[in-house]
Amino acid sequence: MHQGRSGRVLESDFEELSGLAKSAGAMVVGCIGATRRVPDAGTFVGRGKAQKIAEWVAAHCADLVIIDQAISPVQERNLEQLTKCRVIDRTRLILDIFALRAQTHEGKLQVELAQLRHLSTRLVRGWTHLERQRGGIGLRGPGETQLETDRRLIGLRIRHLQTRLSKVGLQRSLRRHRRKRERVPTVAIIGYTNTGKSSLFNKLVDAQIYCADQLFATLDPTMRRLELPGFGPVILSDTVGFIQGLPHALVQAFLSTLEEVSSADFLLRVADDSHPDVREQEAEVEKVLEEIGATHIPSLVIRNKCDASGRDAGLFKGQWHPGPAIRTSARTGDGIEVVKTQLARSLSSARRPCVLRFPASHGRLRARIYALATVNEESVTERGEVLITVNVDAPTIGRIENEPDFDSSYWVERAQVVPDPVTFVKKGSSGAKACS
Ligand code: GTP
Repeated sequence: MHQGRSGRVLESDFEELSGLAKSAGAMVVGCIGATRRVPDAGTFVGRGKAQKIAEWVAAHCADLVIIDQAISPVQERNLEQLTKCRVIDRTRLILDIFALRAQTHEGKLQVELAQLRHLSTRLVRGWTHLERQRGGIGLRGPGETQLETDRRLIGLRIRHLQTRLSKVGLQRSLRRHRRKRERVPTVAIIGYTNTGKSSLFNKLVDAQIYCADQLFATLDPTMRRLELPGFGPVILSDTVGFIQGLPHALVQAFLSTLEEVSSADFLLRVADDSHPDVREQEAEVEKVLEEIGATHIPSLVIRNKCDASGRDAGLFKGQWHPGPAIRTSARTGDGIEVVKTQLARSLSSARRPCVLRFPASHGRLRARIYALATVNEESVTERGEVLITVNVDAPTIGRIENEPDFDSSYWVERAQVVPDPVTFVKKGSSGAKACS
């Protein structure tokens, strides 16, 4: 059952809801559209439409009705009575799929927390509703006591889960901190669900992580090292897909996972080029990025599945995006090399030339510099030292400085690392003579 979110019911909305239902293991027997200016307080869809649903349920022997919106417990109960069938809403459906997909300890904790938060709002409403019927000492019914107990137990479990999650979150942030210290830039693949993020990840890093024609196939972030030609290594992470009407409880519960996105150095924003609502999907992703404070992170727009849309792979200038965008096909591999080149170029744009001078006996240091940075020029000084001009960004400077043979006196000209990686200070200028 779909109630038009934007005042109209689109075929693609039905497809998305059917996809979600199938991902949860349901067999879809039919879809009914409904458009109302204001939802009906008692039944959400209105009595007439509820009657029609009841007829459908009876005719198809259906045992579940899914409403593609968030509905109140009262509306849910009234609809169940009218249709004589179990009724769930979009939030419950998405929570169910997440529960099926959660693999890691953290993922399972996050899903349980979201489920309990969702449940607790329903219990509270039931409770306040019953509270009004309270008639004084001795008149409290057993149902009321049960609700009270349930609410207390749920509250306890929520607090317990929050404590465990904050411990796991701390470990995650320590790992993130370690990665930052190693100065390897992190690149997160983000986008609407089922756009081919995991397939793209596999193609980019030559891995075999799970991807399927299911919504939310990936729940827990996966990370791999990727060597970018002319740039060096980056950590690439595949993250959970976004969706329209993502339950708020879920975004809250997944905040520590989403921090992998908000703390990334660069984002690859993937959308499905063959989808009719690709712009709406991109706007939805933008909304979640705003919610987690990640809109400032530099990014590259990727339109995947160009084999299905029939458009050419490669760079293009989209009317919606400020910079260049790339069409790819993770299925055929077209456009993947362009992504690597463009990513390397974007990350390198923060690089500026620096000069190093060190004894020729440091062959290992010289090899590492060649591996980490783009070498512009190399010569040997009259005293037999190696003089190298390299193009480096702040993370690479840190990596060079972490080399065991390195000494700070080897810098002839060094870019300033903090606070602004694109501002450079000439050695001995005491920071005042900055040039970019
Ligand atoms: P979630 O983890 O569910 O958010 O999905 P995802 O964005 O990671 O997508 P995934 O890589 O799991 O792919 C989803 C479906 O799209 C799978 O059936 C893929 O085979 C298919 N797919 C991925 N890339 C392409 C592509 O370039 N062309 C076509 N035609 N199909 C693709």
